[in-house]
Formats: sequence, C-alpha cells, structure tokens
Amino acid sequence: MSDIALTSDAAHLRQGSSIGQPLTRRDGPLKVTGAARYAADNHPDGMLFAVLAVSSIARGRVLGLDVAAAKAHPGVVEVMTSTNRPPLAGDPEAKDSPFMFRMEVLQNDLVRYPQQPIAVVIAKTLEAATEGAFLLTPRYEAQMPRVGLDGAEVFVPDSVGVGKPSAMQHGDVEAGLGAASCRMDATYDTPAQYHNAMEPHAIVASWNGDTLLLDTPSQGMAMAQARLATLFGIRPGDIHIRSPFLGGGFGSKGLVNGPQVLGILAARLVGRPVKLVLRREQMYGPVGHRAPTRQMIRMGTDAEGGFTAIANHVRTATSTYDDFIEPAGDVAHTLYATPALATSHEAVRLDTGTPMFMRAPGEASGSIALESAVDEMAEACGMDPLAFRLKNYAEVEPASGKPFSSKALRECYAQGAARFGWWERPVRPRQMRDADGLLVGWGMGTATFPALMFAGNARATLRADGTGLVETGAHDMGQGAWTALAQVAADGLGLPLDRLEFRSGTSDLPDAGIAGGSAHMATVSTAIHKAGGEVIARLAELAMGDERSPLFGAGNMGVIARGGRLHRLDDEGRSETYAEILVRAGLSEIEGNGTGTADPAAQNAFAMHAHGAVFVEVKVDPEFGQIRATRVVGAFAAGRVINPRMVRSQYYGGMIWGVSFALHEHAVTDRRSGRIMNANLAEYHVPVNADVPSLEAILVEEHDPHVNPLGIKGVGEISITGTAGAVANAVWHATGVRVRRFPITLEALIEA
Ligand code: MOS
Repeated sequence: MSDIALTSDAAHLRQGSSIGQPLTRRDGPLKVTGAARYAADNHPDGMLFAVLAVSSIARGRVLGLDVAAAKAHPGVVEVMTSTNRPPLAGDPEAKDSPFMFRMEVLQNDLVRYPQQPIAVVIAKTLEAATEGAFLLTPRYEAQMPRVGLDGAEVFVPDSVGVGKPSAMQHGDVEAGLGAASCRMDATYDTPAQYHNAMEPHAIVASWNGDTLLLDTPSQGMAMAQARLATLFGIRPGDIHIRSPFLGGGFGSKGLVNGPQVLGILAARLVGRPVKLVLRREQMYGPVGHRAPTRQMIRMGTDAEGGFTAIANHVRTATSTYDDFIEPAGDVAHTLYATPALATSHEAVRLDTGTPMFMRAPGEASGSIALESAVDEMAEACGMDPLAFRLKNYAEVEPASGKPFSSKALRECYAQGAARFGWWERPVRPRQMRDADGLLVGWGMGTATFPALMFAGNARATLRADGTGLVETGAHDMGQGAWTALAQVAADGLGLPLDRLEFRSGTSDLPDAGIAGGSAHMATVSTAIHKAGGEVIARLAELAMGDERSPLFGAGNMGVIARGGRLHRLDDEGRSETYAEILVRAGLSEIEGNGTGTADPAAQNAFAMHAHGAVFVEVKVDPEFGQIRATRVVGAFAAGRVINPRMVRSQYYGGMIWGVSFALHEHAVTDRRSGRIMNANLAEYHVPVNADVPSLEAILVEEHDPHVNPLGIKGVGEISITGTAGAVANAVWHATGVRVRRFPITLEALIEA
C-alpha cells in the first residue's frame, strides 16, 4: 500500500477539499432553536431530582444533619448521607495519575473545603429536593481555615502540572544577574479563578442492572468510563456516556468529579434514574479552579538590551488532600532567548477544593506575570516593548536548546503591529488622551502555548452507495469540533461533506482521548485522517488489481482520491467512483481505523508551540480609575487552519479571557470563614458584551511538517496568553502606574 499517493500533502492540496473552508457550525441551528439536547435536558421515565447539600464551613467535621426533617417534606424520597450511601468498589481518594481528582463522595464526616457535598436529597421535584437540602440544618465542628498564600505550610512539590519537574535551571542565573547592566525584580500576584462554564455540571444517571447510562458533559469520556468502572466495580464498556454538547468546559469537565459520582450513587440508592445539577455557587468547590499564584521574577539585561538572565520563583496553592500544582513558571522556558534561566515552584496547602486545569493552565497566569515583567524590563532599558522582544527573539527554545518545529512569531509581531498601528506609540507612559479626556494606553504581549497531542482513535467506513461514515468519540465543548472534525473526515475519505456522515459525542464510539490542552483537533484529526487513508488505500488496491478498472496497473504511479472518485495520478482523466469499485468487488462497505498520537522522534527533536502577538488599547478615566479595553488585535500562528471561522472564534474567546484575567476575574475568600464571598456570576465578574472591546484576530500562515501529518497545532487556549499581559501593559502605558496584583482594579489605580 505504500506506493499509493496518499500522503497528507497530496490530500490537503486537493481541489475542493473541505479543509480550510470557513464553514459555520453544523450544530448552530440546533443551538439557536433550542433543539440541542444538553445533559440536564434529559428526563428518563421515573426520574427523580437530586440536590446537593454543601458545607458552609471550610474545615472541620459534620456533627449532625436533620435527616428526619428533610424526609418529612412530602416531596422528598430519600436523603443520602455518609451512613446510608451505597458502597463503592474503588477508593474515591485513590490517585494513579494526575488526571484524577481525589473526591468527596460522603465517605466520611470530614469537611475539607467550603461548598463540599455533605448530603444528597432526592425528591420528586427540584423544588422539593432544594427545600429538603435546606431542612438538613447541619451542625459542625469547625476549625480555623487555612487561607491565602502566606500560609506557613510551604512545600516543594515533586512535580507541577502533569508530571513536569517543579524546578529547572539552565545557565547561571546569579552570574547573569550580577553581570547585567540593568535589572528588574518584582512580584506579581494572580488570584484564584473559577471556570464558570455557562452550562453547570450536570448528570442524569440511569442504572439497568450493572450497566449505567449517563448524560453528563465530559471533556474525556473514555477516561471517565475507566474511572467510574473502577469506582463502581463494573466494566468500562457497560458505562454509556452521552455528551453531544457542552456549554463550555475550560478544563472543569475534564475529570470525573465528586458530584457526578454522587448522582450515580443516588440513582443506585433509590433504584430510579436521578438528575443532579450543580447550582452556580456549588461550582466553586468540587469541580476545580485556577490556583492563585505569587510570582517573584528577576531579570537582567546587557547594555544592548539582551537578556543575561530570567528567573521566576512561583508560590501557588493546592488543597490539603490533593496535589494539582499550577505550573506558572514554565512559560518562561519557551519565549525569550537568555543565557541563564531558572524557574521553580513551591506551594501552600489551603482549605479549598483542589485546583485543576483551567484555560491555559500554567501559561495563562505565568504569561501575565512574565509579559508584565518583560514590559518593565523594556522600560528600564528605555526600549520599545516590541523592539525589546525582537532583540530577545528565541531562535531555539531557550530551556531545551531544541529548534522549533515551526515558529512564525516574527510574522505575528509584524502583522499584528502593522494592523494595530503600534509604531505610532510613544515609549513613555501617560502621553495619550482621547477626545473625552480619557487616558489612552497601548500595550503588547507575546502569546504561546505548547502544540500537544493526546491519543485518540477513529473509524471510517465507505459504503457501496458512495457515502462515508466517520465515527469518533470526540467532544464538542462549543469550540466547533463537530464541524471542523467532519471537515477533516470528508477530506480523509476524499468525499464532499454532504456525502459524509460524522458521528461523535458518545462513549460507544472509538475513544478520541481528551478534549483539553488545546490538543483535540490535532489528535483526533490525525486519527480520522489515518482511518480515511486506510479505507482509500484498500479501495485503491481493489481497483488497481482489477483489470476491469480504469485504474488497473496504476502501480507506482499511484492514485488520488477526490470528490468520491479515485483518479490515476499520471492521467487524472482515468478515474472511477468509489461506488463502482465497491459494487464490482461485491462489497457493501470498507472500514478503516486510525490512531492519532504524537510522534516521539519528532517530539524529541523539536520544541513544538503555537505563537502569537497581541496588541491592546485601553482607556482609563483619570479621576475614577475606570478601565476599559477598547481595542485588541491578535496575530496567531498555529499551523494548519482547518476552519478559519472556528479558529478565529477560538482566538476571540481566548482574547476575551485575557481581558477577563487582567481586569475582571477574582474569587474573594473571607479570611475568617474560608468561604468564597462572590460565588455567583453577579459578583464574580466575567466580561459581558459591554466589557468586550473591538476584537481582531489575524491568522498568520504557518506550515509545520513535524507536529503531525496535517500540521495542526491547537488554538483553544493560546490567545488568553499574551492578551492578559498586554492589557496590564496598556494600563501602565495609559497611567504610568504599574499594578502587579491582578485583576487590576480602579482602586489600585486611584491609590497609586
Ligand atoms: Mo483545558 S484547561 O485543557 O480544558
């Protein structure tokens, strides 16, 4: 089969390929008409409603619950507590991989964080279950909560993120700083943040003997099957998960969480289907968040403005019982050339739910600090921030010394700066005002995110009527995977999109891996394209070996698949349809399978990242300190673009997150009670339309022959990086005030 011309390069250059088309979302009509069925829209016959009762203390024990009062409510069917909840076969606190939460599922009376589930009330209506939970009036033994990064229990973690070393060093930082002609040393604080997907976490669980049907939003269905199988002592294949649509995930729907397990346990306890949906404030506890960080950054430059050293020592927080450590320092490994580089992490244990991946975990909080520090360093050198970044452009990855598999960052800088009008910018701050007297500032930042791949599978089938079917258990979180993956699937089979059926979104399909780390498109597209390639290769073999085919004997010259036909490469006029080939061979269909994973040899040889440059304008009221981001231009290079409309939309989303990080999001913890004081969308600010500036995303062309056969890098998370720092730098440029505690508030500007 190796003689058949089916390299991805031949494929993607095909005329009429669906790859590269700016198609609208296939699920758009379903969503705007309300026909898209989200997990909580399911109501199986006999279903009951479960509501969590959650702890109002941060640390201690539950001494008692008034179960009798709750059960006396006429609509309440059952109350599940640590004394009557059905047993689990597996340990909910076991942890064999970083992709697991240690969970609180009523295994004891301990309270480890506020909003921890302490009981589940099951009732005929949602109102009755809610009222029943209220009637439980828990009694507690409360202890002083451990709150804030100044905590005494500091430790150095074994690893950060997903198994990365907690510290790295390259060259001699102290020598570099000592020899520097110019230095900066500053500390940046980022707050705890919560994912706040629009769709709350939800589960509808139905047992049928030892098989389990779940409607629940998931960014990793196969991983969820495996975890739940261990917990419930059943086979993964007997757990059927449907997750066709997610109303946002942002990392918080990646891992099986306690409330999902409690929903399943409740269904088991009452022997009926149960629906459990988290209230908004209950999403501030058991389903992850972004940990706060304090980043102590030191930099030095020589007389020409070239770095002599970069160091970031990070303190962050995790829970008292689990170990996710935000890898905030690591973004410095990639971005700027320097002879000496060091990053390290330490953590404190707090009475909080365990932090987890959230929207560019590590990179986002690392980037706002690093890009602020770079801006401060440029100012100290008297240089324009873009000129300073170009002076320190990394031709190879600073930490590893590896060449980049591709890096079109220079083009991002150039195109973004030109579009924004950057070079008109005065270097000194507080120089620009608009017609209304508002201070105007321009800032920039570099965006970067690793080009990751997980492992995923797909199955492709070509039917005798010339139509195709591609199946993979992929996840559409709203990012457009259902659309963009179908485009890759059509290309892989050489079919027009209207002759392709594309199925995804359930666990009964081939395991597509995790929708996270901005890796889903790269992973699943590779699997899909391989599966399609296998089908076409079999088809070509049939045709070339059959003397009745016009392709007979094409041999080494090869064939090409396009528009549902195979053509001879040396004479494209000689062709026949897929249907003709299958019918003549007496086959009803041909199936192919593909797996997408990273190529270890390429990974070993190259540093793989997407890049971008973000330029931001803010306006600040000089009297009141009110800040508005008014204009954001981002230019991003992330390999092959499958669907420019979806990619642009991802970039917009990330840039809005960046504005949000710099100016809005902040979970406020009360120091005495340990409770989050703003666990709601009225007081935990995310940008609304009025906060979202004019956005522009430039798609910079980049060909990457190494990351994967299709040259795809992820686009889901990169644009929060760069943007957040650019906003902070623009605020400094507008006001002359450098705020190092995020989000930047108006009182920080007024007090300065
Ligand atoms: Mo993402 S934070 O990997 O969903």
